[in-house]
Amino acid sequence: MTEGSRIPGFYRLSIAERRALAAERTGLDLAELEAAFVEGGLDAAKADKVVENVLGTYALPFGVALNVRVNGRDHLVPMVVEEPSVIAAASNAARMVRANGGFTAEVSESLMTAQVQLVSVPEPSEAVAHLVSAKPKLMELARAAVPNLLARGGGPREIEVRDLGAGTIVLHVYVDCRDAMGANLVNSIAEAIGPSAAELARGVLGLRILSNLCDRRRVRVRCRVHPRDLGLSEKRERAQRHSDPPSAPPPASASDPPPADGVGWVDGRVVADRIVLASRFAEVDPYRAATHNKGVMNGVDAVVIASGNDFRAVEAGAHAYAARSGRYAPLVVWRRDGDDLTGELEMPLALGTVGGTLRVHPVAQLALKLLRVSSADELAMVAASVGMASNLAALRALATEGIQRGHMSLHARSVAVAAGAVGSEVEAVALVIAEQGSISVESAAGALAALRA
Ligand code: MEV
Repeated sequence: MTEGSRIPGFYRLSIAERRALAAERTGLDLAELEAAFVEGGLDAAKADKVVENVLGTYALPFGVALNVRVNGRDHLVPMVVEEPSVIAAASNAARMVRANGGFTAEVSESLMTAQVQLVSVPEPSEAVAHLVSAKPKLMELARAAVPNLLARGGGPREIEVRDLGAGTIVLHVYVDCRDAMGANLVNSIAEAIGPSAAELARGVLGLRILSNLCDRRRVRVRCRVHPRDLGLSEKRERAQRHSDPPSAPPPASASDPPPADGVGWVDGRVVADRIVLASRFAEVDPYRAATHNKGVMNGVDAVVIASGNDFRAVEAGAHAYAARSGRYAPLVVWRRDGDDLTGELEMPLALGTVGGTLRVHPVAQLALKLLRVSSADELAMVAASVGMASNLAALRALATEGIQRGHMSLHARSVAVAAGAVGSEVEAVALVIAEQGSISVESAAGALAALRA
C-alpha cells in the first residue's frame, strides 16, 4: 500500500462505503471486516470471560486516520476515541507530513524491564557484589521461566543491580519480549529469580513486577513540514475540518502570495514560528507540557486502544519518561530548519501484536490487519507517528485560530444526536447550530423542531 492511505473525500462516504474502501485498500475480506464489528466485537457473554462482575459492554467509535506514511509505508491507522476532531486532525496533519515524505521512525533496543525489590539487606555493598557475580545463575533462572519466549528468539538479555540506599537493592532484568507487550513474561521472570536474589543478598524479598517506565523500549519519530503545507486561511479552515486539501490550493511555495480569496491568510512560515513558540512554551512550563502531551496521547492512545493494547501502561510510561529530568517536559519538540518546520518525538512505548486483548477481541484483531504492521516495533512506530500528527494538528490550530471553533463544529453532530436528530437530520442540525455559533442541546432542539416543521 503506497498510495493507499490517501483517500480524498473519505469522510463524505457512508459507513458501508468506507468499509468497502478500507477492505479494498488493505486487501481484507469485506465480510470478515463487517463480521468483526457486530456488537462492537464483544458481546456481554464474551466480556464476562474477560473481566469480573460484568453487566454489559461499552462501545466507542472506531475510525481510521488517513495519509499516514511511516518509513515509506502507508497505513490506514485504526483509532478508537470518543473525542470529535482527533481523527480528522491527525489525518490532516499526516497529510502535511506526507507531502515531505512522511514520518521517519525507529525503535531503540526494545527491552522490557523486570524489577525485583530486596529490602532489609544487612550489608548492601557485599550484597551487590554477590548479586553481580551471580548474574549467570540468575540469567539461567530467568531463561527457564520463559521457555516459549526463548523459542521465539526472545528472552532475558541483561541484569543490572541498583543500590537504592537504606538497605534496599533492586534488580533489573531487561527482557526482549519480541512481539508481545510482555507484562506477563516479565512478571514471571521477576518472580522466578526473586527468591534466589533475596538469598544471595541476605535480604527480604519485596515486589516482583515489571516497570512501566520502559525506557529501553523507546520509539523516536521525526518529521519535516514545508511552510507551503502549514499556511492556512482561517476562513477556509473553518469550513474545512477534514483530511482533504482546501478547496482552493494553498500557495505553491512559502514565498507565493496568498490565494485570491485568502481572507485571514496565515503564511506557513508564520505558522511554523508560532508552533516553535508553542513548543518552547511546553519546554519551559510543565503546566503547558501536560496539555501538549495530552495532545500527543490523543493520537497514541487511540491507536493503542484500537490495537487491543494497555493504554494505562502506555500513559504511565509516557509521563514518567516526560518527567525523567526532574522537570516534566514535552514528548515532542518542534524547531525551524530553514523555512521548514521539523519535529522530533521520543517516548517509551510497549505494545504487542500478540497476546492480551488480541486473543479475545475481533475488532482488535481486525485493527492489526488493517494496519498491516509486521511487528510490535512497527506498531509502536505507527502509533507514535499518529501521536506526533495529533500534536502538530493541535499546535497549528492553537497557533492560529484556536481549537474551539473547529472542535465545536465537529462536536455539533453529537449535540444534534443528543437533541434527538436522526439520519440526515444530524448533519443538517449540526450545520445550523455551527453556523449560529451556538452549540448546545437547546439550540439543536430548536433547529430540529424548525427542520421538522
Ligand atoms: C485536546 O484534546 C488536546 C489539546 O488541548 C492539545 C494541546 O493543547 O496541545 C488541543
